[in-house]
Order: sequence, then structure tokens, then C-alpha cells
Amino acid sequence: MYHSLVRPTQDRDSWTTAVIDARNEYAAPAPGKRRGGGRPLSDHPANEALSEGMSVKILIMGGTRFVGLACVEELAKFGHDVTIFNRGVTEAPVALPRNIRRLYGDRNDHDALRATLKDEKFDAVVDCSAYLMADVELMVEIFKGRIGHYIFMSSPAAFAPSTAFPIPEDHPGTTIETPRNKNYGILKAACEQYLVDQFYDNGFPASVGKLPMVFGPRNTGRHREALMMHRLLLGRPALIPGDGSTFSHPNYIPDMAIGVRKMLLNPATFGQKYTWAMEEYYSDDSFADVIGAVVGVTPDKIYMPADVTTEVYQTFPYPIMHRSQVAASPWYKSNVFSTTKFFDHTGFRQEHTFEAACADTYEWFQRAKIHENYNWDFSHEDAIIKRLRG
Ligand SMILES: NC(=O)c1ccc[n+]([C@@H]2O[C@H](COP(=O)([O-])OP(=O)(O)OC[C@H]3O[C@@H](n4cnc5c(N)ncnc54)[C@H](OP(=O)(O)O)[C@@H]3O)[C@@H](O)[C@H]2O)c1
Repeated sequence: MYHSLVRPTQDRDSWTTAVIDARNEYAAPAPGKRRGGGRPLSDHPANEALSEGMSVKILIMGGTRFVGLACVEELAKFGHDVTIFNRGVTEAPVALPRNIRRLYGDRNDHDALRATLKDEKFDAVVDCSAYLMADVELMVEIFKGRIGHYIFMSSPAAFAPSTAFPIPEDHPGTTIETPRNKNYGILKAACEQYLVDQFYDNGFPASVGKLPMVFGPRNTGRHREALMMHRLLLGRPALIPGDGSTFSHPNYIPDMAIGVRKMLLNPATFGQKYTWAMEEYYSDDSFADVIGAVVGVTPDKIYMPADVTTEVYQTFPYPIMHRSQVAASPWYKSNVFSTTKFFDHTGFRQEHTFEAACADTYEWFQRAKIHENYNWDFSHEDAIIKRLRG
């Protein structure tokens, strides 16, 4: 069990540089020389704990839906001692790995959460169910001084709109309310900043992970890649926004979870906000093509003029194309993200190509009989197809 692993003694930029320098030095010592000049960060208990075959105690807040469930599986696979906390309302679509410990409760009941967690000891917390400032403030109150790492799962919806791409990981947070997801991004942005400040002001070892457009097997967002598979299998046309050239930035669920594992108890990540995703982007056009290739259907694409696309985004009950959400971004903006800092600090690399990831997702789609059991109202699409094709 670790208590307040490290405290920043320098300003934010030099702190990060010092950590990275120390890690690099440790990673590549001069041939035949002892590593000297103080205790390298890689000798820190956090890193010892995560050396091969070692296990740490991890609490995952959430853990039974999609993102959290993938983290549970990845961390359990690497031998960590995983506990999950949730209400027991959302049951995982697969059996949880063996030896997962469960704590039950509603995190909105703060007194009960305090009582449940006050005597529990964890090395790290991965928080997949925090959306409000009150959620993260309580986690800081409960775990301050007695935890090695707190990872807050967040979203690019927390980014302010940007005119520069790829959007840097330290791009400011949004304060703009958006029609579709109300203040999701604003609240996440406020939580992120609070946690970064908690590290620099009080040494609370928090990190923020933003996940662009997560997709893959067991995706609960049924309007996403599964809908395109279903649509093409039905022989329906694919409505493409504009000329199809808008880019999105995908994050494949098993790779997302590897990213969490790579961050875990890594002091270089404390006080940092990261975005991680694939190194590939795809256009709307190529999304339909790749999904078409994996399901074995040549997509019948209908390119919607800009005014029709705008109307579709305003009136459909679901986004016609799965996008990385950035606050108040119009449909024609290619929201792609820099992941360089995350890759540098953690050594993470994309493990699947986009095409292979879509093929794996289709295997799940077939196994889980999603197509047979899809209940989707295509009437909005039919109206647009009729208007455009007559
Ligand atoms: N999916 C994406 O594309 C995407 C993209 C960006 C960021 N994210 C972030 O990923 C995180 C969540 O992903 P997910 O839903 O897939 O995670 P998950 O951890 O797999 O599922 C959500 C968990 O939260 C629990 N939960 C919900 N309300 C609760 C409450 N009041 N008290 C206690 N537990 C509660 C649910 O269980 P019970 O219902 O049983 O309580 C469930 O286990 C969020 O932080 C989200 O912002 C997701």
C-alpha cells in the first residue's frame, strides 16, 4: 500500500520534464555504469509494483458496462487484484473474470460511499463513473494521503472547440453547453481541472484520460459502428455527411484498456491530462467502406449536401455518423487529437489497425446476434433518402 507516492516540488512544466528525464535516464543507463545521482523514479515503489508478475490492488468505480469492463478484464489479466464498485443495476454482458471483488452502493449516496471505502485499502483507483465535481471531490476526500494513483476517465467532449488540429492534450476545457449532451463536457472539464490542481496544490496523484470515440465489441452505443453493420446487412443505403471527407479519431476498446494499464502508478502521469486513441483517423467515407468490407457488402453511399447534413444533425434522434465529440463542433469539423504526450509518457502504442479492429467487432456482432435482435427506427433516414433519391 502506498501513501502519497510523490509530491511536486516544482512548477508544472519542469515537474513533468524532471520525471521524464529521470525515467529516460533509468531506461538507458550508460554501458557498464551504475545508475547514480539519487533514486531513479523507476525504483519508486510504484514502478516496482508494476514490474512483471507483480500485483497491485485496484478499485474500479463502475466496471460492468463497456469502458470500465474492459479495464477490469485487462487489469485482471495482468494479475492485479481488482475490486469494482457499482450499484449492481447494470450487469456485465459477460462473466466477470474470476476473483473480482465486488462492492455495492450508489456513489451519489456520499455518506454510504464514505462508510464503504473508509477502511478499504487500494493502490490505485480507476474512476469510470464520475461525471460531477461532487463525485471527484468526494474521491479526493476519501483517498487523500492513502492512495498511489487516481485515474479519472474523461472525454474529448471536455475540450473547448479548436481551430488547430490535432487538438493538443493540454488544450483548454470547454465552457459551452451543447444541445445533444447538455453539460457533459463542461462538467468533465471542471472535474479534470480540479484533479490537476489537486496534484499540484496538494500532491493528490491524479491523472486524466480522455477517450475519443471508443468502439469495439460490447459497445453500448448502438448508434455507432454496430448500426452501420446492421444498416449495410439490411441492404440499406448509408447517408454520408457532405462529401464524406470529415475525419474521426477512433479508440479501440482493448487498446483503450491497455492505455489505462500503461498509466497505472506511473508518476510521470500525475497531474497530467491525456488523450489516447489509435494512430489512424478515418473519414466518413472510409468508415462506410471499411465496415462494408468486413460485413461483405459494397455500401450504397448517398452523399448529403451540406444543408441537408446540418438538418440531419439537428433533427435526427441519433448522430448519423459516429464522431469524436468536441464541445459545440459542427459536423464538418474533423476532430482529431494529438496523443503524443500519452505515447511518450507511457510507452503506449496502438496494437490493432482500424480494419482489424472493425473485423474483430464484427465477429462479436455476429456471435452476440446483434443483427437479428436490432430494433432500430430507420424512418428518419427513409425520409431523407426519399428526398434525395426521389
Ligand atoms: N464509451 C465511450 O465512447 C466513452 C468515450 C469517452 C469517455 N467515456 C467515459 O468512460 C466512462 C464510462 O464508461 P462506461 O459507462 O462504458 O463504463 P463502465 O464502468 O463499464 O460502466 C459504468 C458503470 O458505472 C456504474 N454506475 C452508474 N451509476 C452509478 C452510481 N450512481 N453509483 C455507482 N455506480 C454507478 C454502472 O453500474 P450500475 O448501473 O450497476 O451502478 C457501471 O458499472 C465515463 O467516465 C465516460 O465519460 C466513454
